[in-house]
Amino acid sequence: MLNFTARGRFCLLACGMSLVLAGCGGGGTDSNISSTPTAPPVSTSTPAPVPTATPTPAPTPPTGETNGLTDGMLRDQFQGDFKVGAVLSSVQLENSDGNMELALSQFNSLTPSYELKPDTIAPTEGVFDFSGADRIVDWAIANGMDVRGHALVWHEGTPEYFYEGTPAEVRARLESYIETVVTHFRGRIQSWDVVNEVVSADVFRGDAGIGPDRRGRWFEAAGGADYIDWAFQAARDADPDAKLYLNEYSTQHPIKQPWLLEILQRLQDRNVPIDGVGHQFHLFLESDPVELMQAIDVVDNQFMGLDQHVTEMDMDFYNDPGTCWSEQINCDPNIGSVAPPEMLAQQAEIFRAVFEGLRQRPSVTSVTTWGVTDNESWLNHSPAERFNYPLMFDRDGEPKPAFWAVVDPNYVIPTE
Ligand code: GLA
Repeated sequence: MLNFTARGRFCLLACGMSLVLAGCGGGGTDSNISSTPTAPPVSTSTPAPVPTATPTPAPTPPTGETNGLTDGMLRDQFQGDFKVGAVLSSVQLENSDGNMELALSQFNSLTPSYELKPDTIAPTEGVFDFSGADRIVDWAIANGMDVRGHALVWHEGTPEYFYEGTPAEVRARLESYIETVVTHFRGRIQSWDVVNEVVSADVFRGDAGIGPDRRGRWFEAAGGADYIDWAFQAARDADPDAKLYLNEYSTQHPIKQPWLLEILQRLQDRNVPIDGVGHQFHLFLESDPVELMQAIDVVDNQFMGLDQHVTEMDMDFYNDPGTCWSEQINCDPNIGSVAPPEMLAQQAEIFRAVFEGLRQRPSVTSVTTWGVTDNESWLNHSPAERFNYPLMFDRDGEPKPAFWAVVDPNYVIPTE
């Protein structure tokens, strides 16, 4: 009997049914902010000009000098090891909730949360709206950050028209979409999650299932898993300098992991231009840092030279049964607006171990958290509306024990 994680248990019931989450790796609750590109659509495949956004001056910590936070503390700690990234939305650039200021002050890489997904960029076939994406990408560049593009191909966040027609038509449309998007951002986006969550999720349905490829809309429409190859090749052709990643969740899972390796091997055997693997790292209080590091190591061992990114790190404080994810039944009770110190301590231990482990692995060149402060995390809304505590900054923008544990090896994690 497999020991399913909460997310695994969700998938056991819900994956493949296109429910609340965008894939069993988490995901999908961006919908509350994802539907509103405001500027008129622009159709272009010309590379955008050099960004002209004005750099934002370095902020003071949101709550004054007393919290001990100084500019660059987090990113400087890992200088020479990896970039430290945050996920932010273009909407947050205008909000005064502290997320943007903290992103500027502590991170040197940025992933737009929904602006680069197909249903935002091209909800109608052939009509492209890059307004939100341009805004956040140019803001990041103007402030000296790297940008990760997320994501070109996914089974969620993708308009229906992508799946219509014969496999040849599906291929032509996909290649054209990728060519337009990647060309538009050529020279501005360093890394692309070319495909997101393409490994089979069958294992979470309670048996070994069918691997290695996800049997989803793309697989059906393309008549197999070749769409992965098409997508990587189109991205490489559009921007030979961008680094191209396969992004996946639960890469530490004992059944899923060999499937990931099988797909990587197949891509390599076919000379598909892939540069690296993105590990989402949506964690739980029960996550084992040793298993997480092993997920990095197996890729290193089998595919020397592949780059590795951690792309969506956060930590769910709930350990819900699958029924909570599928039907909002039997969800864990709301923790409330004050997190128990022992949970914060456990989170801090795991974050410290993970960041330290990643530092020791030279193939890891970027580590991103999905969000900045706890109040903006998707995990407050999925699978249920509750207070969650997934990130390194609390609801007031104050650094949590997890932050101090990561930036200061001598920090003693408080247990009460
Ligand atoms: C997934 C997706 C992301 C995002 C997050 C959280 O893992 O890859 O794009 O939707 O979940 O919402």
